[in-house]
Amino acid sequence: MENQVLASFLNLANDFICSGYKSKQPDDIFIPVVSDDTIEQIAQEINACRNCPLGDTRTNAAPGEGVFNPLVLVIGEAPGEDEDKQGRPFVGKAGQLLDKMLGSIELSRTTNCFIANVIKCRPPFNRNPNIEETAACANFLERQINLLKPKFILIAGKIAAHALLKNTEPINQMRGKIYKLTFGEITYPALVTYHPAAVLRSDEYRRPTWEDLKLLREKLAELN
Ligand code: URA
Repeated sequence: MENQVLASFLNLANDFICSGYKSKQPDDIFIPVVSDDTIEQIAQEINACRNCPLGDTRTNAAPGEGVFNPLVLVIGEAPGEDEDKQGRPFVGKAGQLLDKMLGSIELSRTTNCFIANVIKCRPPFNRNPNIEETAACANFLERQINLLKPKFILIAGKIAAHALLKNTEPINQMRGKIYKLTFGEITYPALVTYHPAAVLRSDEYRRPTWEDLKLLREKLAELN
């Protein structure tokens, strides 16, 4: 009896193997398309990227860091000198202020945020990234957003805002408003504020930046 069971099992297994896995599937079976992209995979590709000349001049790329499925994805412009040395986003003086700004509304890269940049490598002398560099890097950020699926996007500074909103408006006209940004099949609410480096340079940006943070806090509370 045991032998019969074993033999019929072997027959079944043989049929299955010989027939090919796909032909056994009924036509109407639903096979979900699962992306095998991961944040780590994207970071590896960024670290090896030579899609634009910044790949040759950087010390380290700064792919981004923070939590998965964040409440807020912060997007800045590009790594500066400190970020280039450490391979991490927003770790210099502007980054320290960014951490304080986020902390003032209970946000942080260790608990509920992911921090990234439009451009993953430092442009020499911290010049603004050009169109070719922005285009060469765009796919990395898009893939990050598609995986992270943040609840909200906070855009830090004019350069990042122009790249993401595809406009050329002055920052004082973009800040303080909720935009809708679509990536993949999801539309994300997004807010533009001053870059923390601008806030460090000029006191006049402190108050409007604080107003923006309060608006962000309000919008996040509404999401709950
Ligand atoms: N400025 C940015 O826009 N990003 C950083 O990571 C650091 C400074």
